Amino acid sequence: MYQFNQFDPQSFLKTYWQKKPILLKGLFKDFIDPLEPDELAGLAQESEIESRVVQRQKQAWHVEHGPFDSFEQFGENNWTLLVQAVDHWHLQSAQLLEPFRFIPNWRIDDLMISFSTPDGGVGAHVDQYDVFIIQGMGKRHWKVGEQQPLQSSVPHPDLLQVTGFAPCIDEVLEPGDVLYIPPGCPHEGYALEPALNYSVGFRAPNQQDLLSSFADFALQEECFQQRYQDPDLQPTQLAGDVTSSEAAKLIELVKQTLSQPQQVNKWLGSYLTQAKHELDIQVPEPSFAEDDVVEINQQIEAWLRAGGLRILTLDNGLFVNGEWVDSQSCQADFVRFIADNLLYSAEQLTEYLQQNDNLALFSALVNEGYIYPYEDGEE
Ligand code: SIN
Ligand code: CO
Repeated sequence: MYQFNQFDPQSFLKTYWQKKPILLKGLFKDFIDPLEPDELAGLAQESEIESRVVQRQKQAWHVEHGPFDSFEQFGENNWTLLVQAVDHWHLQSAQLLEPFRFIPNWRIDDLMISFSTPDGGVGAHVDQYDVFIIQGMGKRHWKVGEQQPLQSSVPHPDLLQVTGFAPCIDEVLEPGDVLYIPPGCPHEGYALEPALNYSVGFRAPNQQDLLSSFADFALQEECFQQRYQDPDLQPTQLAGDVTSSEAAKLIELVKQTLSQPQQVNKWLGSYLTQAKHELDIQVPEPSFAEDDVVEINQQIEAWLRAGGLRILTLDNGLFVNGEWVDSQSCQADFVRFIADNLLYSAEQLTEYLQQNDNLALFSALVNEGYIYPYEDGEE
């Protein structure tokens, strides 16, 4: 169980969130790494887990994508292994996200973990998203700057770096220290000794992301088919012109799609619960009858949501992993319980599962492999 040591979410959000970087020295007291470098290397052997090694050889940069069978070829220094979405696969590591839940789940993306050999780093760069970088084992020298005009360079097709930024933080991080870096702020870190870093990354869609997802939704649902009409058309002298009132009518057609709350909320809930990385879904074979679910619930302490699986409520609708789920006849506090927790206590569920619609919904989630019995001490 990870907890912050003296931290005021309210004043952090007011002063720093999306505004300026800060080093939160000793934010985790007596920090214990959730995994060993060897375990991270093991995850990087899996083909469904995204990983890469970034290596610096004098002035040249080299990037290799996983899966990796071995790391011997990279030597003792100057490289970093980065593994994406470790929270989807490694429960102890996923626990590191918990203290950050003062930020809503839909904004949290994933936990990326890096292992660096001495002098290893990915070079100075800028990210598009907010990130908290937690220092685990070892020490790493980090420099972070506020937003500033920057010159970019592409030393390798997979690396976009920046040169010569002015840092406002220039410190050696020790286990338990945390950097917060807003989008667009340049940063670079080089390990002084073998080091683990945990990056809690966030999501923030841009207009392109939203529009393209909205268009996909319209095609899939076959909605928004209203066509342009002009029954009052008058003869034109300017055959090659689109008049401003015609253009305004066309734009209005687009705007109308966004003022249909039922469709818009269905799209948004689905979009915000889509996973960006593979999930560790464990579909039970054969599937459980509802009675089995009640029986299992009597035998275990808790159920666990699959790592990284997104469950959100939006305008009274429930969305799970990119789909709307009918929860209208379930108890409202049961739906809240499902959306707000990652670990579901069997004791609390006992009462909820006495209501038939709650039981049907919970059983469906179990049979999709989204929620499964939790064995304590599980990895
Ligand atoms: C790293 O851990 O080396 C990369 C983290 C980052 O700069 O985003
Ligand atoms: Co970065």
